[in-house]
Amino acid sequence: MEVKTEKVLIIHGPNLNLLGQREPGIYGSTTLENINSLLHERAAELGLELSIIQTNHEGVMVDTIQQAQGEYACIIINPAAFTHYSIAVRDALAAVTIPAIEVHLSNIYRREEFRHHSVISPIAIGQISGFGSHGYLLALEAAWRLIRSA
Ligand code: DQA
Repeated sequence: MEVKTEKVLIIHGPNLNLLGQREPGIYGSTTLENINSLLHERAAELGLELSIIQTNHEGVMVDTIQQAQGEYACIIINPAAFTHYSIAVRDALAAVTIPAIEVHLSNIYRREEFRHHSVISPIAIGQISGFGSHGYLLALEAAWRLIRSA
C-alpha cells in the first residue's frame, strides 16, 4: 500500500539505551536521549514528523515494523546485534513496503568478523556505518530525499 506521508520511524535496537556509558571508545559519549533530541530538531527543520522507539526485544522490533505499514514513509533502523542474525527483523522489513535505511554508529567492517555481515543490508535502501551519532542525521537527510522524490 502506497502512503503519502512525511512520517519517519526511527528504531533503535538492543543495548542502545545504554549509549553514553556503553563502550564509549566505540560508541562515543553521546546518550540516546541526546541523539533523539538532535533528530527531533533536524526533523522539524526538514518538515518531517518523527517517531522514535528503542527496544531490547526482537519480537517488539518485528511488531513495530509490521505496524509501521500504512503509517510511515521511511524507517531508519539501527538493529544493533540483530543486524547480524535476525532473519525475523529482515523478513519484517521485507514484508512492509516502506524503504529502510540501516544505521550503525561504529564502522561494523572495522570490527570483529562476526559484525562484518548484515542480514539487513540486502533489503535496505542503504547503510550508514561509522559516523557515530551523526550517522542518524545523515540517514534523516537521506529519508527526506527519498520522501521528496517519491
Ligand atoms: C551497532 C553495531 C553492532 O554490531 C552492535 O551489536 C551494536 C551497535 C552500531 O551501532 O555500531 O549494538 O549496530
